[in-house]
Amino acid sequence: MTVLAHLSDLHLDGTPESPERTRRAVNHLTGLPGTVDAVLITGDVADRGTLAEYHQAREALAPLYERYQVLLCPGNHDSRPEYREVLLGDCGTAPVNEVRDVADVRVLTCDSSIPGRSEGLLEPETLSWLDDALAAAPDRPSFVAFHHPPVTLGLPYTDRIGLREPDALAKILEHHVQVVAVLCGHAHTAAATSFAGRPLLCAPGIVSTALMPWEQDHDASWQTHSAPPALMFHRYEEGRLTSHVRAV
Ligand SMILES: [Fe+2]
Repeated sequence: MTVLAHLSDLHLDGTPESPERTRRAVNHLTGLPGTVDAVLITGDVADRGTLAEYHQAREALAPLYERYQVLLCPGNHDSRPEYREVLLGDCGTAPVNEVRDVADVRVLTCDSSIPGRSEGLLEPETLSWLDDALAAAPDRPSFVAFHHPPVTLGLPYTDRIGLREPDALAKILEHHVQVVAVLCGHAHTAAATSFAGRPLLCAPGIVSTALMPWEQDHDASWQTHSAPPALMFHRYEEGRLTSHVRAV
């Protein structure tokens, strides 16, 4: 059995208040009497992508790193050079793609950010890396994780800035039947749908919760901060994935 805790969209902005909601999630996970196999964070770690925000993220997430494997990918609010410098300790500008074996599964975290843009794209370099990494372990159940959902979710604000060219990803997934599910963030609301014949699961937002059109007043914001932060647990055993949402 494998259990992944999945959180997203911390949007740490360098103010003293902003880590509070992240801390609630971190405390929940570090205070579990049992354990999970890894913690996945699907982007928008920072709000404006500054070095100070990543230093704040490193500090806020430190207790997680002490106890768990932590897997991260950037979102549209992240900035690759600063993200790399503080969180990865390198100075590149290439997409941040990583493959990690966690208990019985493989997790492939991909960089769907486009520098300077809000919408997402898996660059050709990322797609070919993904194809190769999946081909290298065809019998290992795998999860593909990145920030921007490759389908619309009925959220007017985020649907406009989703993943461009999702067909290129769908084509790759066609050749890799071991991909169990696609895991995303960006939506700021827990959402379950499908993509390329697999479950597509979006983690709720730590910083805020997006409102559906029927939950909004005309002039109101697309998001609310009055709902508690929340995360997901994805449990995979013997071919079956079950996902649970937990407010913290
Ligand atoms: Fe976000």
